[in-house]
Amino acid sequence: MNKFAFIIHPIEIADIYRKFPLLEKLPVNLVEKTFKYLPPMKVSVIEGVKSPWGEVQGFFIACPLTTRQLLTLPEEVSIKKIIEAVKVAEKLGAQVVGLGAMTSVVGDGGITIAKNSNIPVTTGNSYTVASAIDATLKAAALMDIDISNANVAVLGATGSVGSVVARLIARKCKSLMLVARNNERLSKLARIVMYESGIALEVSCESRKVLCKADIIISVTSSMDTVINPEDLKPGAVVCDVARPRDVSLAVQKLRKDVLVIEGGVIKVPGPVNFNFNFGFPPGLAYACMAETMILALESKWECFSLGRELSIAGVEEIKTLATKHNFQLAGMRSFEKTLTNGQISRIKNEVIMKREKEYNIVASI
Ligand SMILES: NC(=O)c1ccc[n+]([C@@H]2O[C@H](COP(=O)([O-])OP(=O)(O)OC[C@H]3O[C@@H](n4cnc5c(N)ncnc54)[C@H](OP(=O)(O)O)[C@@H]3O)[C@@H](O)[C@H]2O)c1
Repeated sequence: MNKFAFIIHPIEIADIYRKFPLLEKLPVNLVEKTFKYLPPMKVSVIEGVKSPWGEVQGFFIACPLTTRQLLTLPEEVSIKKIIEAVKVAEKLGAQVVGLGAMTSVVGDGGITIAKNSNIPVTTGNSYTVASAIDATLKAAALMDIDISNANVAVLGATGSVGSVVARLIARKCKSLMLVARNNERLSKLARIVMYESGIALEVSCESRKVLCKADIIISVTSSMDTVINPEDLKPGAVVCDVARPRDVSLAVQKLRKDVLVIEGGVIKVPGPVNFNFNFGFPPGLAYACMAETMILALESKWECFSLGRELSIAGVEEIKTLATKHNFQLAGMRSFEKTLTNGQISRIKNEVIMKREKEYNIVASI
């Protein structure tokens, strides 16, 4: 049977405490420092990934660094630890390895890791792009937003996921806003998007200024902290939060009952899959980046499919076709770690109507 491995890591310190509750009594710095010296290890065997074309077995390998450590330790320290995790995967007989969450972001987006590996490495970002766009379009339709008439913003637009999301969504929407912190990289991307689509485009390093104009936001930053707050959003907006850790603050859930926030990149895996490890999803669901690694193993496609910060549209289209072939599907909508119900969508729509009526009455009374 073909074998794959997927590297995971604690997104935040709470993930470590959940697994080892006794450590909660110790200071965060001490726990992180101790974990830094632990070797990466296999945490579970993934069974039952079965498509009409075959079955594969996988392994979750834990890299013991938190998001904060991966992004703030010297790059070579983080990369060395991830390479050690890849070596664990090799020893277990994995024929392809996927990089989860920040292990795919740190440094050059997996290129150095792949150079130091004897098996192909993928960030899983091509399938993440495909599923983020599909989920966004589905959510927009549920909110009765006509994408061809919508203003869309991509936050984290110059990244590996964000840049291809921007190029693809530009084919469908009315206008596009590209947001990140580095203006030079934004301008370079804007030239490409404009050349390919001819769409009305705005670039900005100040997310607050543009997000409030967006009907739809796809958020894919590599920020350690949340970057979308309640006051940033337009009533009725749809936000697809692909980032891990999340970009949308929990305050949005509490204070903005008139917006729809969905998780991007949630996939239903074919077969009686058992991950033997709880990463917060209901049974049978996985992140798109995990799913891409499974698809490559099912297809015996032993290549570094998604690597670095310049992915191709052709790659996104190819992995989407292979996903369909192997029965991987977009999962039902999830919002703030829970399944989104039709009742919730109706309540959001009602809230938007009430807000608009209120605004109309205020204007009419002036
Ligand atoms: N759900 C899934 O299945 C899945 C799969 C893959 C990746 N992801 C997640 O997707 C996210 C992006 O991954 P990636 O590989 O595309 O990362 P990346 O290549 O490093 O891109 C990150 C982007 O975010 C921007 N950025 C960083 N901090 C920002 C901030 N505070 N405000 C605004 N923009 C900011 C960066 O540009 P500047 O530096 O110029 O700001 C860049 O455009 C990560 O959170 C990753 O974990 C999720």
